[in-house]
Order: sequence, then structure tokens, then C-alpha cells
Amino acid sequence: MEKNVFVMDHPLIQHKLTHLRDKNTGTKEFKELVSEIATLECYEATRDLPLQDIEIETPMGKATTKVIAGRKLAFVPILRAGLGMVEGVLNLVPAAKVGHIGLYRDEKTLKPVEYYNKLPHDIEERDVIVLDPMLATGGSAIDAITIIKRSHPRSIKFMCIIAAPEGLEALSKEHPDVPIICAAVDEKLNDIGYIVPGLGDAGDRIFGTK
Ligand code: PRP
Ligand code: URA
Repeated sequence: MEKNVFVMDHPLIQHKLTHLRDKNTGTKEFKELVSEIATLECYEATRDLPLQDIEIETPMGKATTKVIAGRKLAFVPILRAGLGMVEGVLNLVPAAKVGHIGLYRDEKTLKPVEYYNKLPHDIEERDVIVLDPMLATGGSAIDAITIIKRSHPRSIKFMCIIAAPEGLEALSKEHPDVPIICAAVDEKLNDIGYIVPGLGDAGDRIFGTK
């Protein structure tokens, strides 16, 4: 396993992931599960946010306690499926800004095609967490991160739900500085670039388009 990969094997995540994979799980529940898993993964993705001491008064007297030290975050979902993770992460970090990168995989070449790009204007001051439930060949994540790097954010992490070994290898090779947080590393890609056992097409299952 690549050094920069963190697999969240927490029981709550693993339990929810089982329902997410199940082909009998309908759109409403699927969307809720994606959001809930994103919230739980966000704990890990934000683990290294720096803290600072402040003085407050509790009902019992003065206390020196900690708050997050003014670091600003931006979440950047890769459209469409990454949108399903946004609400879940904003539950934890409501002040974060949200950028969007639109990419779809050409079904024949499996290469990502860019169709939208809108990032926060002050991204240079922000730590970015890129969101996409699926890391398959890695092409979409690699291109999204290449695009985001042109705007020079302070740092970038990539958060997905299911990763294929092929995608982890490709992304770690192309962007070795980007930590990857996922809930599972699956067996392989099939011959049309889908993750096996995976969960099928994340975008279609979130938005009910198939
Ligand atoms: C899916 C998924 C990723 C990409 C992963 O999106 O959400 O963005 O495929 O595949 P890759 O690692 O091989 O690039 P898709 O292109 O199906 O678009 P959608 O989200 O609009 O359905
Ligand atoms: N995109 C998906 O939504 N699912 C896969 O298995 C691969 C790419």
C-alpha cells in the first residue's frame, strides 16, 4: 500500500459501506449513506488542523482551551458524484468554501473531459479537500488535482469512498504530495474501468439517472 493512503476501517464506516455497495439500496438511502460516510471520513481528513489556545470562562471559572487556529478549508467536489459528499463534510466544517470541478470519463477512452471549473477566489489561503466517491483509474482525480494546483492552494488532500489499487498507484505517482483518505481499497478494475466489487456507477446511483 502506498505510504500516503489512509484507509478508514472504522466499524461505522464499514457498516454503512456495506449498505452502499448493495444493489438493492435505493437512491434516497444511497445519497444519505454517501453523505454520512463523508462526514465520518472528514474526521480523518481534518485530523492535522492546527489548534491554538484561547481563554474562556466556564460556569466554574477561567479555562485555557483550544480552537482551530484560523486555517481555512475549501472542499472541491468532482462533478457529479462528488456533490453527494458535500453536505456531509459541511456538517462538520460549515464555514468552508466549496469549489467545483466538472469532469466526466469518456466511456471509450476512460480519459476525463473537463466541462466546469469554479474555485474560491482566495484558494491560495486555503487547504483543499477534493471529494469524489470513486477512485477508479485515477484519471479524474489526477486531472482535478492538476487543475487545482494551478491556483496554488496551501495544501491538497483527496477523499474518496472506494479506491481501486490501480487508481491509488496512479494518483500517488502523479501527485505524491497529496494524502488519500478512503473507506475501502477494492480488488481491481474490470475491463470497462469499473471498480470490482465496487458499488456500480456512483453518479447514477446518487442522482437516480439509471
Ligand atoms: C466517476 C467518478 C469519478 C470517476 C472515477 O465519474 O465519480 O469522477 O468516474 O473514474 P476514474 O478514476 O477512472 O477517472 P463519471 O465520469 O462517471 O462522471 P459522473 O460523476 O458525472 O457520473
Ligand atoms: N466510476 C464509478 O462511478 N464507478 C466505478 O466503479 C468507476 C468509476
